[in-house]
Amino acid sequence: MVTDMNRIGFYQFDPRFGQVERNLDQVLHGLRDVREALIVLPELTLTGYSFADRAEVARQAEDPRDSRTVEALVALCRAQDLHLVTGFAEQAGDQVFNSALLLGPEGLLHVYRKLHLFGREKACFDPGDTSLQVQDVRGMRVGLMVCFDWAFPEVARSLALQGVDVICHPSNLVLTYCQQTMLARCIENGVYAVTANRYGTEARPHGTLTFTGQSQVVAPKGLLLHRAAAEGDALHVAEIDVARARDKALTAYNDILGDRRPEFYGDLGEPTVGRTGE
Ligand code: ACM
Repeated sequence: MVTDMNRIGFYQFDPRFGQVERNLDQVLHGLRDVREALIVLPELTLTGYSFADRAEVARQAEDPRDSRTVEALVALCRAQDLHLVTGFAEQAGDQVFNSALLLGPEGLLHVYRKLHLFGREKACFDPGDTSLQVQDVRGMRVGLMVCFDWAFPEVARSLALQGVDVICHPSNLVLTYCQQTMLARCIENGVYAVTANRYGTEARPHGTLTFTGQSQVVAPKGLLLHRAAAEGDALHVAEIDVARARDKALTAYNDILGDRRPEFYGDLGEPTVGRTGE
C-alpha cells in the first residue's frame, strides 16, 4: 500500500457566549505550538452557541469575506502553515447560517452551511443551502459537516461517494451518543473523522445547555485514535495515512462502497412513512 502521511487534529475549548475577542484569543493561544496540520475547531467557535433568536444571531454573524476574526485565523494559518475548519455564524445578505469555514494560508477556501439544524437552531438560523463537497487540502480530500449532521448518515455517505478521506466535524454536542455513532460512520464509509466538540455550560435566559466534550479522531474501520476528556481544553494532532481511507476493502471479498446495491435501496430522497414511522 502506498502511504501518504498527514496530520489532522482538533482543539477543544469552552467558547463564552458573545465574547468573540476572548474566544479568538483562546484559539490563537491554544494553537500557538501547532504547525503543518489540519485542525478542526468547535461549532460556532467565535460567538458561542445558544442564541435567543434570529435577531441576536444577526447582531453577531459576519460575512466571512469581510471579517477581522477570519483575517486573524488566516494570519495564523500563514504563520504556522495550518489549515483550519471552524464553526462560524455567517451573515449572507438577510440570511444567517450556522456554517463551517475551511481556511488556509491562501485565505477562505470553502463555506459549508449546516444542513440539519438542531432544536432551537431552527428558530435562529436559515437551513443550509450549500451542497456537500470535497476539497483538496494538504494532499487529503476533505469534507465538512456540522454537529447534528452526524444523525443523518446520508451526509457522510455523500462525502464518501465523492472520495472524501477526512470528514471535519465542528460540534457543540449536547446529546450523548454522537461520538459512538461517528465510529460507525467511519466503518461504513472507510474514512477518517475529526469531531471537534466544545465543553462547558451556556446559561442563557431561555435555558442552560451543557456540552459533552470528548472530541475525537477516528480512523477507517472505526478505530478510535484519540478521544479527549468530557471537560477541559484539549489539543490533539494525529498522524494519519490517507491511503487507508482510499482502500475500501472490508474483507478480501468486500468493498464497502463497491458492494453497494443502490438499485435495491429505493428512493432515499423521500420517506414512505410519516413522522412516527407509521
Ligand atoms: C448541535 O447540532 N449543535 C447539537
